[in-house]
Amino acid sequence: RRRIAILISGRGSNSVSLMEAARAPGFPGEIALVLSNRPDAGGLARARDEGIEAFAIDHTAYADRASFDAALHEALVARDIDLICLAGFMRVLTSEFVERWSGRMVNIHPSLLPLFRGTNTHQRALDAGVLIHGCTVHFVVPELDAGPIIAQAAIPVVPGDTAADLAVRVLAQEHRLYPQALRMICDGDARLENGRVVFSEGWSAAGSL
Ligand code: GAR
Repeated sequence: RRRIAILISGRGSNSVSLMEAARAPGFPGEIALVLSNRPDAGGLARARDEGIEAFAIDHTAYADRASFDAALHEALVARDIDLICLAGFMRVLTSEFVERWSGRMVNIHPSLLPLFRGTNTHQRALDAGVLIHGCTVHFVVPELDAGPIIAQAAIPVVPGDTAADLAVRVLAQEHRLYPQALRMICDGDARLENGRVVFSEGWSAAGSL
């Protein structure tokens, strides 16, 4: 079973959905660690309740991104982590860190990439007038939110929707999509090869929920 670390910055609802999924018998990975860059992240307490090691590495205590990322890397290696799931982790990682975890770090993003990289995705989707919105799980590459796509889930945008409405409906999809994608990655049914996602036979459609 792959040893997984989840990196969060706040509420941690995606980390909860991943922890719940990983408890299922036969799940091909184990959540071994939940790490936050903010000590007040709500998701840390929940992880400890589950008996999972959880702590913060406070980024404000480090002089620069490189030294914070070095501390992060050291903590992950010390715990034999195989795979990193970013789940609402709101710090940009250095390209050095990203390269070290290439093919072994994934992220969930609240839009249908490549549309709306970065923040404030739901308002930007409304402003653009899209009729379909959603979320994406992708491998992490140095360029922000630009990595190869593993799985996506879509929702319709309906008249009267606010950004908050979209956030609620997209989040519900995130909670379904991320565990499914994590299972595919742990089983090797979605993997990064030469900068592209390769799916095992019959598995590409599993990424569209
Ligand atoms: C989620 O919607 C996630 O997709 C988004 O932050 C939220 C975290 O919620 N991530 C990003 O915007 C990454 N740039 P959670 O803490 O309840 O999982």
